[in-house]
Amino acid sequence: MTAVGRAFPPRPRGLKGRAQELETLDRLVGKTPTRLALVGGGGSGKSMLAAALGHRVAPRFEGRVHWFRIGAWDLQTLLEILAVGFGTPSGADQRLPGLRAFLSTGGPRFVVLDNHEDDRATAKLLDALDGTPVTFLVTARRCLLAGVLVYPVTAPLVTTGRSAFPRVAALTRLLRWNPLAQDVADGIVESGEATVADLQAFLAARGLGRVHVVAHEDDVPEVSLLVDFVWRRLSPQSQRMLAVLAHVEGDHVDETSLAQLARVRSGAEAALTELVRLRLVQEPLRGRYTLHAVVRYAVAARTTFDRARFYHHYVRLLEREPARILREQTHLFAAMDHAHRTSDLGAMLRVERLLDRLR
Ligand SMILES: Nc1ncnc2c1ncn2[C@@H]1O[C@H](COP(=O)(O)OP(=O)(O)OP(=O)(O)O)[C@@H](O)[C@H]1O
Ligand SMILES: [Mg+2]
Repeated sequence: MTAVGRAFPPRPRGLKGRAQELETLDRLVGKTPTRLALVGGGGSGKSMLAAALGHRVAPRFEGRVHWFRIGAWDLQTLLEILAVGFGTPSGADQRLPGLRAFLSTGGPRFVVLDNHEDDRATAKLLDALDGTPVTFLVTARRCLLAGVLVYPVTAPLVTTGRSAFPRVAALTRLLRWNPLAQDVADGIVESGEATVADLQAFLAARGLGRVHVVAHEDDVPEVSLLVDFVWRRLSPQSQRMLAVLAHVEGDHVDETSLAQLARVRSGAEAALTELVRLRLVQEPLRGRYTLHAVVRYAVAARTTFDRARFYHHYVRLLEREPARILREQTHLFAAMDHAHRTSDLGAMLRVERLLDRLR
């Protein structure tokens, strides 16, 4: 098996109903550099599909497959993120030439730009790197980019009317084919917490199916209700870990930080195992955890967390272990936001000193 780049997510466990898509995308990636966008609604399964595709095509790229979460950053920040990731010069004038030189040598690459939000920034980035032997795969809820082949992503098997989750097939329609809801339901049933009939009765009693306006794309009643269902069955440690992940502003949290922030002194591993088993947490990098935006919204609605604790935790950690700044950079950006929000000059200077090490 060909290894993938260090920052690439692990091969997704339990990917369902995507054989057709993987076959087609594999062919579309082909051998010549291309640009593709997986476009679909929140939680339709784009990132999971992108990760699975990366592992599938990795041998063709001799392991040169890479993953960057680009969000809504501007061009210069995107170039900096890529330069830091590839270890090329990160000074303002050298970023682009350094990246172009690096990407032009060493063979073809497959680069996932996950979670695209800003059309202008991504257009400039792809244009700036035009001509390098890189196949770019963008994932986006919306994408207004010419020159990029849009591949629509819908819930697994929804267009065929079949269920991708055999264990909870009877709930497919009730859960409106939502893959996250089906995955959580599948986890609940597989772990023996409830039967399909229990879930069906609970969801019906709580009025699932009633027509109403939702707050935004991450407000998915199917998922919120399933979170309600499992909440009282979770250990207090698991509940506190979920609360941390629902309120943290940085990207993903390593196991030790998660246990400390959740004040879980023993049993952290068991708590995490429980959350993974119930499919409530994602593991975008080995040993680092996050919540999907939809689960995050559902958990945030029922928990609170003092955000100042994130500031103190990460600033202290990185002052003690500066070598980890690169890995924890999003927590540092979040710490800076916190310092600004509270107008604490001393706190801003502490983060600024740490950020200097990144530059
Ligand atoms: N094919 C699948 N098989 C099993 N579970 C799936 C599948 N697709 C999606 N899921 C479930 O849905 C969750 C959300 O998937 P994913 O993160 O890929 O969505 P997304 O489209 O990238 O969402 P967003 O727009 O918020 O980035 C996964 O963590 C998993 O629980
Ligand atoms: Mg995604």
